[in-house]
Formats: sequence, C-alpha cells, structure tokens
Amino acid sequence: MGSSSQIKEFFKNQTVFLTGGSGFLGKILIEKLLRECEDIKKIYVLIRPKKEKTPEQRFQDLFSYPCFDLLKSKHINPLQKVSLVHGDCNEPFLGLTEQDVAILLKETTCVIHAAANVKFDQPLKEAAYYVRATRDLLELAKKMLNLRVFVFVSTAFSNCVHSHITEQFYEPPMKPEKLLQLVDILDDDTLQAITPQFLNTWPNTYVYTKSISENLIKTIGADLPITIVRPAIVISTIAEPMPGWIDNFYGVVGISAGAALGVIRSMNANPNSRAQLVPVDYVSNCVLAAAWKRENSVTTTIYNFVGHENNQITWGQYMKVIEQQGWKVPSEKVLWYFWFKVRKNRLWHKFCVFFLHTVTAYMVDFVLLCLRRPTLAVEKYRRLNTTLDLLAYFGMKSWKFDDRNVMELWNDMNDADKIQFCFNMENIDFIDYGYHLVRGARSYLFNESLDTIPKAERRLRVLCVAHYTLLGVFWYILFKFIMFFVSLFF
Ligand SMILES: NC(=O)c1ccc[n+]([C@@H]2O[C@H](COP(=O)([O-])OP(=O)(O)OC[C@H]3O[C@@H](n4cnc5c(N)ncnc54)[C@H](OP(=O)(O)O)[C@@H]3O)[C@@H](O)[C@H]2O)c1
Repeated sequence: MGSSSQIKEFFKNQTVFLTGGSGFLGKILIEKLLRECEDIKKIYVLIRPKKEKTPEQRFQDLFSYPCFDLLKSKHINPLQKVSLVHGDCNEPFLGLTEQDVAILLKETTCVIHAAANVKFDQPLKEAAYYVRATRDLLELAKKMLNLRVFVFVSTAFSNCVHSHITEQFYEPPMKPEKLLQLVDILDDDTLQAITPQFLNTWPNTYVYTKSISENLIKTIGADLPITIVRPAIVISTIAEPMPGWIDNFYGVVGISAGAALGVIRSMNANPNSRAQLVPVDYVSNCVLAAAWKRENSVTTTIYNFVGHENNQITWGQYMKVIEQQGWKVPSEKVLWYFWFKVRKNRLWHKFCVFFLHTVTAYMVDFVLLCLRRPTLAVEKYRRLNTTLDLLAYFGMKSWKFDDRNVMELWNDMNDADKIQFCFNMENIDFIDYGYHLVRGARSYLFNESLDTIPKAERRLRVLCVAHYTLLGVFWYILFKFIMFFVSLFF
C-alpha cells in the first residue's frame, strides 16, 4: 500500500486565515485546499471593497472563476468551508472588526499572508501600508491561541540588489519602524519627491517594501512558527486545476499576450538571461508543503521558489516558445503578425519602441480620429511602454538563487505528496507548458472558445502575408531612395 499524504493530514481540522485570497495565487490556494484537503475545517478569506463592489459581492464573484469549475464538478461547494472576513491591508490592523479579531485569535491555526499590491510603480506610502499590515498581522498572530504555522509569501526578488540570493534573511534597506514613521510624518508630495533617494539601487517600491517586511518576519516573527516562500515570476497553472489558467495581464503575461497579438514588438532584456518563471499551482503547492514542514522545524525556513538549475529557460527561448505556440492556438483578436524581439541594447530597444510602438500608436489614433471614433492607441501604448520599462531591470539582470531548502522540502515529501502537491520544476517541459500558456490566455483572458481557432489561423496567415508584403515594400522604397541619392553624387 502506498503512503498517504502528510500535507493533507496536516491540514485536517485546520482553520486557515488567508490574506490575498481574491488574487491569482490566493484563488489557487483556496481551490487546492478545498479539493485536496477535504478535511480542512475552515478558510477565512480577507477581502476589501473594491471598484464599487462590497466584500460580499466580491466574495460571491470569487467562485465564478473557471479555476473553481473542477471543484464544482466534484460537487464541492466552496461556501461551506470558506468564510469572508472584511478587511483592508491599507488600514491599521488590516481594518478588522473587534468581533472578527476575536474569532480569528480563537480559531486560526494557520495564517497564509499573501496580500500585496504587485504593481511596481505604486507610491512608497501605499507600498508601506503592506509593511504595516505585515507588522499588525504578526502582532495578531502572537495572540492566536492555536497557531501552528504562519506562511509569509514574499518574492524571490525581495533582495534583488544582491546578485547571489541565498535562502537567508538580508539587511533591509530601511528599518520597518523608520519607514512607517516617515510615511506618517511626510506629506505625499514630499514623500514622492524623495522616494528615488530612498530606493537608491532598488528598482521599485514593491521589492523595497517586501524586503522590509521580511525584516519584520525576522524580528517580530522570531518566536512564531513562521516560514517564508519567495516565488519568482508567477505565471499560469501548469497542471491544476487545469493547465494554462490565468486571471491577469501582469508583467510578463501581458507582454507575452501583447506579443502574441502582434501589438508589442520589443522587450528590453538579455535574451540569454534566465527567465525565472514559475507556475502558480506549483507556488501554491510549495506554500502548502512549507506550512506542513514548518511544524517539524525549529527555525524559520526561507524558500526561494525559482526555476530548477538543470531546467532553465532564457528570455529569448521563452519568447520563441510563445511565438511558435501562438501559431498553434492563435487568438481571434490578433491584430498583427508576431514581430517581436528581446533586445539587450537599451538604446536600440528605445529606438524600436519609438518607431514600432509610439509612431504606430499615433498612426492608429489618427485613423480613428478621421473615422470620428475615440482614440486609444497612444494611451494604451504609453502604458505598455511603462510596463516594459519597469520590467527591464528584471529582464536584464541575472541572479544566482540558492534553492537548497526547496530541494530539501521536496525530498522530505513522501510519494503521495510528490504527486498531489507537486512543485518539481526540474520536469517542466517548457514547450508543452508554453502551449498551455498561450491556449490558457486565449480561453481565460480573451474568453475565446477553441472552435474559433481555424478562423484565427486564417487571420494570422493573412496578417503574415500583409506583414512581409509591407516589409518588402518598405525595403524596396528604402533601396530606391538610397539609389536615388547615390546617383546624385556618382
Ligand atoms: N504575481 C507574481 O509574479 C508574484 C511573484 C512573486 C511573489 N508574488 C507574491 O505572491 C502574492 C500573491 O500575489 P498574486 O500574484 O496573487 O497577486 P494578485 O493577484 O494581485 O493578488 C494580490 C492579493 O492581495 C490582495 N490585496 C492587495 N491589497 C490589499 C489590501 N489593501 N487589502 C486586502 N487585500 C489586498 C488582493 O486583493 P484585491 O483583490 O482586493 O486587490 C489580492 O487578493 C503576493 O504576496 C505577491 O507579492 C507574486
């Protein structure tokens, strides 16, 4: 008889308090806990009001995402075990009511703190709220009567100013209390003006404040059963609940989708640098495994959840996979032929962005203006170009990550857990995964059904012919132009 899952056993009768449950990773965590750990007692999910929707409305909406379809097909009703907790990390003590605090302190046995604003260009004041939320949640955790584990979801880039990132704590760029005092004292304009001085060599406020939050884990969390999971760049599911599921256009996903649609044509990255991409379901499994493991360890363990040393993909290879798989499952929304390059030289990239993005955007808006239609391309490309700039740091640099703790965690898992909570990055077939990434983006981001693929293929072929015809005409005109000037002088 095979062994039974130790992770499932760990979550038996447990009550989880999850922040970030309405997010990309959070949804997968909830789904996995409900589907795989059927004996879990309760999951409290912190949700804030947003975009004129109440937490109640957002809580109902949460379970309409396709990632919960498998659960529903198994007749598991998420509402039986998942409960809403009103709250907002931008408020002191996460904006929790006294009653909710009392319930959480009494019932919670496991905290998974995954809430964050993953925008790289958020103002420092806003990013600092998440430091305060982490501090306040740690203070609450200290009072939790039955706490078995606290998992903090950080990022592999929380210490990205170092080129070799170990699974250790690092000195933060600023002490947490000092940051919180500064954002309290300084007005928004002053803070905004001096943010570059604070950041110094740090690329953005997101990683800067994640690093500071990690310091809180080290100090305030020293006596807690705490563990940190630092995932790299989180992208679509590889396997569960279905391959290719995704709910957002952040960063790399947005760029890949934009490239596949033919609207993004350049990315400033080193084609030979490793693209540290990890599937969201593997991140979720690693978080749950880390929670299980923490109970039997005496110290805080940090897990750098990154690509496997023997199975890496570079930015150049990744974009090639997207291009190739884009031919197999093209989108109906494709606007132009895939004409994209990863460019290492920043000046050359900027030049290409100017001609291939900005000039194109003005031409499109000019046509729209003539047709008396609302213009949109200049604004959309402006935002795309900003995203490309924000990501350039991560595309250009290469890091050496230690992931010995992740390897040990994997080796400590029994066979049942290795199957049910797989996060083995060594076995990923990036070509196959790339197919699911593109197919998933088509289904879950663009809401296109698979029977429209033949139509999209025809469209892509026409655009391919149009692209090369236009390119031929361009080079012909350029050649004639040069010949004309040459003939003037010789
Ligand atoms: N995505 C990545 O590539 C990546 C890489 C490394 C690490 N991580 C980490 O993984 C975790 C989950 O990220 P994700 O990819 O799932 O991002 P996400 O989809 O943007 O989810 C973020 C979650 O945090 C919640 N949140 C943000 N601000 C909040 C606030 N003020 N109050 C309450 N909840 C708030 C969001 O709630 P709303 O729905 O209300 O916004 C959402 O549930 C984060 O800690 C992130 O730093 C992500």
